Amino acid sequence: MLHDGNKVIEEQRQGEATMVEPVGTGKRKLLLESYGCQMNFSDSEIVASIMGEAGFSTTREAEEADVVLLNTCAIRDNAEQRVRNRLKYFKALKDRRPELVVGVLGCMAERLRDKLLEEEKLVDLVVGPDAYRDLPNLIEKVDGGQKAVNVLLSREETYAEISPVRLDTNGISAFISIMRGCDNMCSFCVVPFTRGRERSRDPQSIAREAKELFDKGYREVTLLGQNVDSYKWNMTSKGEVKDPQKPTVNFAQLLELVAKVNPDLRVRFSTSHPKDMTDDVLHTMAKYENICKYIHLPVQSGSSDVLKRMNRGYTRDWYKNRIEAINRIMPGCAISTDIIAGFCGETEEDHELTLSLMKEVRYGMAYMFKYSERPRTLAERKYEDDVPEEVKGRRLKEIINLQMECSAERTKAMVGKVHRVLIEGPSKKSEADLCGRNSENTMVVFPKGDYRSGQYVDVMVTDCTSVTLLGEVVAS
Ligand code: SAH
Ligand code: SF4
Ligand code: F3S
Repeated sequence: MLHDGNKVIEEQRQGEATMVEPVGTGKRKLLLESYGCQMNFSDSEIVASIMGEAGFSTTREAEEADVVLLNTCAIRDNAEQRVRNRLKYFKALKDRRPELVVGVLGCMAERLRDKLLEEEKLVDLVVGPDAYRDLPNLIEKVDGGQKAVNVLLSREETYAEISPVRLDTNGISAFISIMRGCDNMCSFCVVPFTRGRERSRDPQSIAREAKELFDKGYREVTLLGQNVDSYKWNMTSKGEVKDPQKPTVNFAQLLELVAKVNPDLRVRFSTSHPKDMTDDVLHTMAKYENICKYIHLPVQSGSSDVLKRMNRGYTRDWYKNRIEAINRIMPGCAISTDIIAGFCGETEEDHELTLSLMKEVRYGMAYMFKYSERPRTLAERKYEDDVPEEVKGRRLKEIINLQMECSAERTKAMVGKVHRVLIEGPSKKSEADLCGRNSENTMVVFPKGDYRSGQYVDVMVTDCTSVTLLGEVVAS
């Protein structure tokens, strides 16, 4: 789920693959693997729904699959390399079983298009993130002996009315995509090229999906978008009203709408963008207990010079002002971040500024990366990737070490208090324990007693490891 286990890790799930548990009753078997961010995982649930309608059920076994679809990520070069290796594996399988259909979905599909089909002959099918409705037709085309591609990006597609098939679910937490694409053009980032223009999904369809999930026993939803703060319904990107007959909805209002679905439904969201995060959103969070007190606010760098070259749209001071607003409006709210080490032109002073900002904010958790140049981005065209690999590595290490200290300190500060926990299931380490998160997204482990998944319990925390809280239930 969102920032799993509050672990300090160098590589985000971006790159890790998830194979889905078997679902559906269709005759043909689909192996669906997801790489990349939560939006990709959420998209795979749309794909499973579309493929389910077309007569497929999912499998975990490559050997019994009729169709293999890899939902891919292009964010950093190593994410792509992992997928390429996986494709080589399926190519070998296909040499033995020529009827096997292999397709690439998601962000690499958009980036590489024909290259994968023609030059490398690794796949039969290439489908971009806005073309999943076309999958059954495209597969039919492949069945007929042709190769198939649809990488058209759309200005409207939000898959609003498609009911996602929940994959690999604990039955308690689910993702809801509230928008697609990104209009920001951060100079290092490939996402605007792979996912197209930003568009927001109908708020009523979002609230309806949250309600349906609650009725099925889910107790937590995470609203997903690359920049949730710029969610706008019935408004142009400039904020002008599109249809005066209809209400307009911004992110603060959407958050309230979803929070009101049921006070027992926890609401989380990701990702917030520092340039767009308003006090309105913070006040709405403070007003509703079921909106979790946790904000992922990627800073990328602590140096205003670097931020300018990154085209992030804020300075170090602006960012610090946003942190102050969070601490003022919601004292104790957990804050996590993303940091890139070694962006073009980053000096030792710039790097020190990142470390000093981390010391000031003391993030509970961070995803930390070495800069990886991406084709077509502004940075690739305009700046030189001039920080040597070993310097990037050393800076990243310093960032990670500092973050480990901050994370451990954060966890320790939570000991000795009672935390409201939503139980997610058995603890990974012991059958005798259950686990769940507090509002601040820290994992809490405690003896299972008679409690069950989906229940809220108050846990007195008496001890901790570096990222996990340990305690006992004092009330339910
Ligand atoms: N929309 C989110 C980020 C999505 S990508 C936001 O704006 O915060 C997730 C993270 O990957 C980014 O926050 C950034 O830290 C990292 N990232 C993106 N492009 C990268 C690149 N070219 N090299 C290294 N890290 C990158
Ligand atoms: Fe990429 Fe920036 Fe958009 Fe995030 S906000 S997806 S980093 S362009
Ligand atoms: Fe990767 Fe695409 Fe997400 S590039 S991070 S899967 S939007």
